[in-house]
Amino acid sequence: MAKPTHRFVCQSCGTVHPKWQGKCEGCGEWNTLAEEAVENRVPGPAKGASVGGRKVEFVALKGRSSPPARTRTGIEELDRVLGGGFVPGSVVLVGGDPGIGKSTLLLQAAARVAESGKRTLYVSGEEAIEQVRLRALRLGVSGAPLGLAAATSLRDILASLEEERDAGLVIMDSIQTVWLDSLDSAPGTVSQVRACAAELGRLAKAKGFALVLVGHVTKEGTLAGPRVLEHMVDATLYFEGDRGHQFRILRATKNRFGATDEIGVFEMTEAGLAEVRNPSALFLAERRGNVSGSAVFAGLEGTRPVLVEVQALLSPSAGGSPRRQVVGWDTGRLAMLLAVLESRCRMTLGMNDVYLNIAGGLRINEPAADLAVAAALLSAATDRPCPPDTVFFGEVGLSGEIRQVAQTELRLREAAKLGFSAATLPRRVARGGRALSAPDGLRLSEIGHLADLVAPFAAGARPRAPGKAKAQAEGAEAE
Ligand code: TYD
Ligand code: MG
Repeated sequence: MAKPTHRFVCQSCGTVHPKWQGKCEGCGEWNTLAEEAVENRVPGPAKGASVGGRKVEFVALKGRSSPPARTRTGIEELDRVLGGGFVPGSVVLVGGDPGIGKSTLLLQAAARVAESGKRTLYVSGEEAIEQVRLRALRLGVSGAPLGLAAATSLRDILASLEEERDAGLVIMDSIQTVWLDSLDSAPGTVSQVRACAAELGRLAKAKGFALVLVGHVTKEGTLAGPRVLEHMVDATLYFEGDRGHQFRILRATKNRFGATDEIGVFEMTEAGLAEVRNPSALFLAERRGNVSGSAVFAGLEGTRPVLVEVQALLSPSAGGSPRRQVVGWDTGRLAMLLAVLESRCRMTLGMNDVYLNIAGGLRINEPAADLAVAAALLSAATDRPCPPDTVFFGEVGLSGEIRQVAQTELRLREAAKLGFSAATLPRRVARGGRALSAPDGLRLSEIGHLADLVAPFAAGARPRAPGKAKAQAEGAEAE
């Protein structure tokens, strides 16, 4: 039988299908399959070939090895996410939506590295030299001794990089624009992106320069997403943010040379990306005191405490099943919290549409946010503002118990630093060990059950929907 010459590859996850179909078997996405030519592989050694190979030496785990000398960019927020700077010979993938600021960030970083005396090369496959120059002018880095090229042919790029003697950092913007002429597929397809990334990565390892690949994430699946590259690179950073907001968050989802829970916060300004040293102040900047439905969460992003405002809005449902609309948090977690409030604390919120928003566009993944979300919901339900000088944190369990979370002291210190005077947090369980050292002047209200949070809201509440809010009415009567 003749070998098939074409195959269908999912542009989202890379699964290969012999025939076209609407839905990918691998990831379940629709309309992501694209036809690609089967690569003509160089014939390898025959099965069972044991001759001709070189003996690989096995060594002990213990041995001399020095930590890699890193190339710091001087952009603190970027260096921290990288784990201390670029590692020579490593490949870093920077993904993100088009227009989010990847080229801007990398041009700024490249200029800094070039200024520090390391040979730095920036290969733009998307923009012409003139456009990159204009951006550099706008960013105020046009004087940096950076090597700039506009090229998309991998063969040309490889040949040029081979010539380089002491390149320290090479940026390829973007990996979806480069192509290898020996492949039959269009630039940006899975086979092209993979082959080009592998070739560039091999050269980076051989020559010892740090390589940055820029990759767009597209929902349409017309371009191969960075996901197909994740296993080929040493670190994957995602640049996220909402174009409606001025700030951007750089997050590592994979890092062989550092932690993956660090974030870098930037603000997009007229003159490029500015570092945000104190994200809490930024996220709370537009907070208005004395409104119901708002609570401040003392969160943690990596090693850094971040305070954010959680906003909730309840409105009587128009019938049918009530809406649950969440921005920046997990919808499933909200449903769980509503169920706990209903069945353990006798709050009836179920008939309302619930809208939840993490102000400023940050995405929170910590369960520690439960308590702040509950406070915002209770505040919205009773139309009573949370005490404006209080932060909340703690995980809520299914029986309504408030569970301990990590780094209590760090969160409290950040709250005190930003002028908060009270904190509602999980009750400490006697486990021996060190006592909690809270900053001076911070009142701690330790609670063990969600009902303890409900009580102060229910007392003297102005229920928004009498008759529905049974628990609140009871609370009001008791007053
Ligand atoms: P860009 O870095 O080109 O995004 P990406 O490479 O991720 O596609 O950034 C594009 C956006 O950033 C564009 O909408 C304009 C904005 N921007 C600024 O607001 N200030 C600046 O100094 C620069 C260079 C860009
Ligand atoms: Mg770009």
